[in-house]
Amino acid sequence: MTSENKTELERQMKYIEQCKVYTAAFQVEHGRIPRACVVTFGCQMNARDSEKLSGILEQAGYELTDSEEEADFVLYNTCTVRDNANQRVYGRLGHLNSLKKKRPYLKIALCGCMMQEAAVIEKIQKSYRFVDLIFGTHNLFRFAELLSTVLASEDMIVDIWEETDQIVENLPVKRKYNYKSGVNIMFGCNNFCSYCIVPYVRGRERSRTPEEILCEIEQLVEDGVVEVMLLGQNVNSYGKNLEHPISFAELLRRVEKIQGLKRIRFMTSHPKDLSDELIEVMQRSPKICRHLHLPLQAGSNRILQAMNRHYTKEQYLALVDRIRHAIPDIAITTDIIVGFPGETSADVDETIDVVRRVQFDNAFTFIYSPRTGTPAAAMENQIPEEVVHENFDRLLFEVQETAKSRAALLQGKVMEALVEGVNEQDPAFVTGRLSNNMLVHFRADRRLVGKFVMVILDACHGFYYTGRMVDWLSQTKHTRLGKMVDNQWLN
Ligand code: 5AD
Ligand code: SF4
Repeated sequence: MTSENKTELERQMKYIEQCKVYTAAFQVEHGRIPRACVVTFGCQMNARDSEKLSGILEQAGYELTDSEEEADFVLYNTCTVRDNANQRVYGRLGHLNSLKKKRPYLKIALCGCMMQEAAVIEKIQKSYRFVDLIFGTHNLFRFAELLSTVLASEDMIVDIWEETDQIVENLPVKRKYNYKSGVNIMFGCNNFCSYCIVPYVRGRERSRTPEEILCEIEQLVEDGVVEVMLLGQNVNSYGKNLEHPISFAELLRRVEKIQGLKRIRFMTSHPKDLSDELIEVMQRSPKICRHLHLPLQAGSNRILQAMNRHYTKEQYLALVDRIRHAIPDIAITTDIIVGFPGETSADVDETIDVVRRVQFDNAFTFIYSPRTGTPAAAMENQIPEEVVHENFDRLLFEVQETAKSRAALLQGKVMEALVEGVNEQDPAFVTGRLSNNMLVHFRADRRLVGKFVMVILDACHGFYYTGRMVDWLSQTKHTRLGKMVDNQWLN
């Protein structure tokens, strides 16, 4: 840890102590511990940030709740990658306002990517005066300080930074799952895809040092984590700007060596930076999951160029060939945008052609959403909504068909699943995740959550399976499951 980081950490811990004075006073006044609710919009990065924000709230003396109705402090961690994410926040703010009218001591805070946009701040200051605190992505590590300020104030506090080069480590974290965790390996993005607002709201690329990352993962494993998801906007460019540069593949080699860690995932990979070294490391690794999220965005070379993606359809297809050749059982998923300025039906045919050839295991399809300040938003040839919808539906049909046929290939196989939770519909069932990211529901004891089991994939339901756990005797033959016998899981 650098001395700058240490000082900042100590400062924030002092602010947490100050917040405790407030929460203790609340308890005396209301006869109960104050409750805080953190609502996450958007991606895995935000989900991880929310765990950090929740950790601070908990240390400050709040009890965490999922219910906004019950909460005394509500924090929205927002996303702005598409406009519908922003609209959802505005919609829900209306509801919070009515809650606040009933309970004037309710504090409302907003943070995350959407808050990095000047127009958003202006709108909230004008039309949502009841909001108490607004901060952005670059000063998230100062949350304890901001919390202590807002708890002692009646005014709206707004603190947005344009950028930061600081990475503050070791703040408290409240993890959502005991057995798996996200781990930030880098922040920001330097790619400036022409449609994307992320580089403007998350800033330039900054990598954490491998030492910090390894230390965090070792700690997580000590706490019982068996699976990590390494997080970055473009993990393939990890480490390039460090004082001692290191490749992402090399980082993976080091993470892999951590004893007790069973599964490694990562996202997101930019196709332009995916190296043969990475493919080789994945191929050899028993821990790196058989899943790669490789955003295509578009299949037409003309559109890819206008998107500033730095690869062609042919290069993408060749890359997929190399990956599938080296790792035949890998699942490849993707993101696709429909309706980018100037995109014709013929361009979408090119995208559909890629979908058919690659046979994605899953694809997230998005309607292009103009984001103020990005080059694409200023392009003249924006596409009318009816045309976009027609193309979107055509693409979605192909995506669903290929995903279903890919999923069907697993029918009857016996595979290892990490049990992630009790099934919401039927508590006699649990949900497990396979290495390739496929979900399987099967009858099992809830105490298996966080454990690995072997499952027979009986019936494919398009995007998930129902199955059966391999019986106890054959389980014991499997080395990882030997542990379950020690724990006397099954009787
Ligand atoms: N409009 C629609 N989709 C977008 N994405 C990013 N920016 C936009 C936008 N302006 C999609 C991309 C990216 C995913 C996280 O969100 O497909 O990979
Ligand atoms: Fe956005 Fe492109 Fe960076 Fe991904 S790589 S965050 S799409 S600019």
